[in-house]
Amino acid sequence: MASAPIPARSTAGAPVTPAATSTPSAISARGIGRRFKNTWALRGFDLEVGRGTVHGLLGPNGAGKSTAVRVLTTLLRPHEGTAEVAGHDVAAQGARVRYRIGLVGQNAAVDEILSGRQNLELFGRLYHLGVRAAARRADELLERFGLSETGKRPVSTYSGGMRRRLDLAAGMILSPPVMFLDEPTVGLDPRGRDEVWSAVRDLVDGGTTVLLTTQYLEEADQLADRISVIDAGHVIAEGTPAELKARIGGDRIDVVLRDEHALAEAAALVEGATGHTVRTAPRERRLSTEVDDRAASLTRAVRALDEGGVAVADVVLRSPSLDEVFLHLTGPDSAATTGPARPDENTTEAQR
Ligand SMILES: Nc1ncnc2c1ncn2[C@@H]1O[C@H](COP(=O)(O)OP(=O)(O)OP(=O)(O)O)[C@@H](O)[C@H]1O
Ligand SMILES: [Mg+2]
Repeated sequence: MASAPIPARSTAGAPVTPAATSTPSAISARGIGRRFKNTWALRGFDLEVGRGTVHGLLGPNGAGKSTAVRVLTTLLRPHEGTAEVAGHDVAAQGARVRYRIGLVGQNAAVDEILSGRQNLELFGRLYHLGVRAAARRADELLERFGLSETGKRPVSTYSGGMRRRLDLAAGMILSPPVMFLDEPTVGLDPRGRDEVWSAVRDLVDGGTTVLLTTQYLEEADQLADRISVIDAGHVIAEGTPAELKARIGGDRIDVVLRDEHALAEAAALVEGATGHTVRTAPRERRLSTEVDDRAASLTRAVRALDEGGVAVADVVLRSPSLDEVFLHLTGPDSAATTGPARPDENTTEAQR
């Protein structure tokens, strides 16, 4: 996770303000292509991100998320297409773009031996703040990201969530109007993840536009106003979390039975209770189906199983997995799918 020390302006002082521009978008990309040797990592990539919004770029390993972020933050030149960030062209006006953005990348850049405060002061100095201004900014950011208490301790003693919050703080030294976060919660435990989510929400409440990449549907769902689903270098679906979830069929319930032989009977009961097709995984004694109304469907399904005398080992209400999203969006036969359906999964006919 890195707060890339993007070279800043040569003069310190005035706060950074978004450039006046005719476009209401903070980020706008059209037909971006970027190849490495003969392979296109990104091709025909389009993106519009409204000012003051959070946009999620959701996709599996190798989809092109980091390449998109690196093009939009001017670290890589696009081979095709054009993009503007904060009103400036990433290829022709790189310095102006860099002056208005912050980046928290996938690899750590904060120094382990230094304290949180010393790291932020160092970044402030790299951004050409004076000694006093850098110290003041470090204190403000430690306070804002809930690190005041631990600011004096070496980073090597920080939890994962604290490190990521320090990364976010380092990316915010100049209060950039646009922040790029590349997989900000990967590898964190649920508590660290919650800490980072709340820090991101604070950023947005302060008016910052955020583009965040993630492999977790739940993360995009929790944080993003809109989501672009990316696969094989281009966007395959875009919309609000609610629109995308409606397209992919909303939440799921999984039921694990005590006895595999009851699976067919249980599937029929759950289909009757939810009105949706049920998938069964006999080896795991598990059946899954989508639900429209969460708790109400769950209650109906459990009651139907109970009344039908089917013994249940476990019941879970959950969001669709990224695999399920991709299966829906790309179809099981498409080369773009992230993985095959489980080999032991079958779909039974819906009742009705
Ligand atoms: N510097 C590079 N040289 C060669 N190929 C690269 C380079 N950077 C990325 N690629 C390739 O481009 C494709 C997209 O990679 P990218 O890192 O953008 O994916 P990603 O969505 O960020 O994946 P992850 O979730 O693993 O971070 C991959 O096939 C990757 O191997
Ligand atoms: Mg990446």
